Order: sequence, then C-alpha cells, then structure tokens
Amino acid sequence: MRKIRKAVFPVGGLGTRFLPATKTVPKEMLTVVDKPVIQYVVDEAREAGIEHLIFVTGRSKAVIEDYFDAQVELYATLVERGKTAELSYLQEIQPDPGTTSFTRQQEPLGLGHAVWCARDLVGDEPFALLLPDMLMQAMQARKGCLSEMVDLYYETGGNIIAVQECFPEETHKYGIVGKGRSVAHGFEIINMVEKPREGKALSNFYINGRYILQPEIFKILQRQESGFSNEIQLTDAMLQLAGKEPFYGFHFKGKIFDCGSKIGFIKANVAFALSRNDLRDQIYSPLIDLLKEERAL
Ligand code: UTP
Repeated sequence: MRKIRKAVFPVGGLGTRFLPATKTVPKEMLTVVDKPVIQYVVDEAREAGIEHLIFVTGRSKAVIEDYFDAQVELYATLVERGKTAELSYLQEIQPDPGTTSFTRQQEPLGLGHAVWCARDLVGDEPFALLLPDMLMQAMQARKGCLSEMVDLYYETGGNIIAVQECFPEETHKYGIVGKGRSVAHGFEIINMVEKPREGKALSNFYINGRYILQPEIFKILQRQESGFSNEIQLTDAMLQLAGKEPFYGFHFKGKIFDCGSKIGFIKANVAFALSRNDLRDQIYSPLIDLLKEERAL
C-alpha cells in the first residue's frame, strides 16, 4: 500500500466570520494560547508521518509562508540573549528545507477548487487533507486524529473521512455521511450530502475536516462543477468518487473546535490552555472567578 507522504492545507478562504481580524491576518495565523492555529494542524500532520506540507493560499496570506521559513536574525538574537529553550523549540518545529510547497488559489471558489489547485504538487499518490481552521484535541494518551486515520488506511486502503457526532438539529450545517457496516476501526460510508435540509440528514455523523484521499479525486474536481452556494464542493466530488472507490469513516472521539468561528476559537483557547501543565493551575481559578462574577451580574 502506498504511504501517505503529503498533506494539503487549504488556506485560501476569506474568513469572513472573523472580520475585522481577518482583514489583514489570515484566520490560520490567529493564536490559540501562544501558537498560530496552523501550527497545531501541521503538528498533527507531522505526528502522522507526513513528510511534505502543501499550502493552497490566497491573496494576503503570504505571512503563512514567512511563518514556516527560518528567521535567521531572530535565531541569532535568541542565541545572544541565551534564550536556548525558545530557540530549540523554534528549530524543532521548523520544516526541513524543501519540505513545504505553496500554490495560489487565485479566487476562493470553494474547498473543492482549493484541493484541485494542489493537483500538480500532490501528483499521483494518496494524500492527507487537513482543514486548518478545525482544531482537534485528542483524548489523553491517544494519538492525533490524522495518525489514527493513517492506521485505519493501512488496514483498509481506499479513502478515509474523519467524522464526529453532532446534535440532530445541527446536521444542516455540515457535510453528513451515511453509515454502513463496520470495518477494522471504522465503517463503510454509503452516502454523503453537503448541508442537508433540516430533517433530511442520513445520520448525525458530520465530516470534521480530516481526509485521506486517492489522487483520482483530482480528475473529478477538474470538471469544476459548482454545488451548494455556487462553490466547487469537495463533498460532491467525493460522492462521485465513492461510485468507483471505497470510502471509510473514522469516528474521532476527541474534542474539535471550529476556529473559523468566534465561539469555537474562544473555546479552543480555554481548552488548550487548560490542557497545558505550565498554564492549567494559573488559568483555572481566574476563569472560575470570571464566570462567577458574570453569573452574579
Ligand atoms: P470555510 O468555509 O470555513 O472558510 O472553509 P472561509 O470561506 O475562509 O470562512 P468564512 O465562512 O468566510 O468565515 C473551510 C476551509 O477551506 C478553505 C478555508 O481556508 C478553510 O480552511 N477554503 C475555503 C479555501 O482554501 N478556499 C476556498 O475557496 C474556500
């Protein structure tokens, strides 16, 4: 079975739900505690054995490319000031030369279009796709979402989509899959629909933003067919591919935060701060006090 070596990160969206912050700062660069959102997602990809990072960017997203470059002057200053812990962390997360690629989407025509823009960089091999605004927090002592998907992929092959359960009244907000028989640590996907009408969902399993896809998806995306809200939808292309190739669902049991929304972003900051040994005790009591004061008003 072919190894999953490359991951695509579509960062070409406009982030309109986060204006005015995203007028000049890409939403992927907003910080959760002390790291940009994109760093968490890249960490998840590297933990899963990904060797090459492909970013599909857009206008005003150049800062993402700079972020993944070596900052030689900063490193020299950190050496001068004896800040060795900070320096070694920056060096540890620095991608090796030649292991990042950036391409421009030019126009934000939808997620399917952004993925198609990565076709030449991915080439003819299966790849991972991670939506950078969806932050995953794995359960304690468990591997990250993409690592678990890669494990499933080596058992089943095909295409893998990570899913989570939502409340039945929320299914119209998401891409929803229909669940077939169980296989290995996942299940067969028998259908999928992007944002079904209320009461018409196949299940309450929604697509959470992590995928392993076969390169045949590019041939379908090449047709540039528009779907829901006149955008080129990845779900529509996956549905067509599902007619020819197997798709499996991986049920991720950790927490997920939609950092493209204000509520998800604030929750992510609190959850990730509470998960850190250096911050948990310091943040816990002030948070409780804040909530008590709010309730007393
Ligand atoms: P979203 O719909 O959440 O992103 O797309 P958006 O359009 O930036 O957000 P809002 O709704 O205006 O606030 C999910 C992911 O797909 C990427 C986004 O960057 C995000 O990571 N995307 C979306 C693209 O790269 N290109 C697109 O044309 C659309």
